[in-house]
Amino acid sequence: MDADMPPFDTSPIFWLNSEDIFDGTQLLSSNNPIVVFDSGVGGLTVTRQLENLIPNANLLYVADNEWFPYGNKPGFAIAQRVHKLLDLLCVQVTPLAIVVACNTASMALLEHGFDKLRHNYFLIYPPIVDAIDTSENKNIVVLATPSTMKSKHVIKNLEKTELRAKIWPIATQALVALSEARLKGEDMSLASFAEQVDSYLTEEQRLSIDTVVLGCTHFPHLIEDLRIIFPNAHNWTDPAKKLATQVLSLTKGIIATDMPFKTVLFTSKRGADKYLQTFTRNGFGTIEPASIGAIL
Ligand code: DGL
Repeated sequence: MDADMPPFDTSPIFWLNSEDIFDGTQLLSSNNPIVVFDSGVGGLTVTRQLENLIPNANLLYVADNEWFPYGNKPGFAIAQRVHKLLDLLCVQVTPLAIVVACNTASMALLEHGFDKLRHNYFLIYPPIVDAIDTSENKNIVVLATPSTMKSKHVIKNLEKTELRAKIWPIATQALVALSEARLKGEDMSLASFAEQVDSYLTEEQRLSIDTVVLGCTHFPHLIEDLRIIFPNAHNWTDPAKKLATQVLSLTKGIIATDMPFKTVLFTSKRGADKYLQTFTRNGFGTIEPASIGAIL
């Protein structure tokens, strides 16, 4: 097991910030939020689409900062972890839908059969087949974490499409860290990622790319930098909107909240306050422990 992974048998607790533990019991009776799950800030690229399509939904974002990052961890461990966390959350909250806004976690849940264990899971898939339909010149780069790239679903899709397009898969964990740093307001350069791209593609190939698959929810945060690296790409395939549309079709007519809340929870108090600032800048708040009831 990776040295960064805390022992598996620790029971995760959900934190509102670095001091206060989430107590969801008061939410239980009347709030059925859409739970959005990711290892960190990547899921914000999905909540933007959910907010556009379902503006009156209560959103409960869970960032598994204790285990961040996922992309270099084994798929089975990720699947077990995510499933266990959601089991614990569901003791306190009754979600209308659970949006796994993380390609790495979604591929792990799918590959290890955990996707069948909950009826209201919405998984996100790297849109490889969609990209082939969209690309005009069929020169495509797929960006995803190493774990996603190794998943059976992605390997199968890459094999299935290899005769229809020239596809360059680039597994990168560095972009996830860059995305987190950027959202926290740190000025990070993508120079080392650009060098990695140069080791996969000649300049001519790089300039020929017209379609980039954003196979990690962290990557749309970096789109402006990625445009510099792939200057001729004009199709940026991000599956978030499709996912939000699927959630809308389940929740249509069910959600009727005039004053929706957007709350974020963390699995570790370490670094939670810094994270909270990032989420606050993106319209999320926390619930004051004493005033949870006031929301109802
Ligand atoms: N946002 C996640 C994804 O879509 C993963 C990032 C990570 O924790 O490595 O894959």
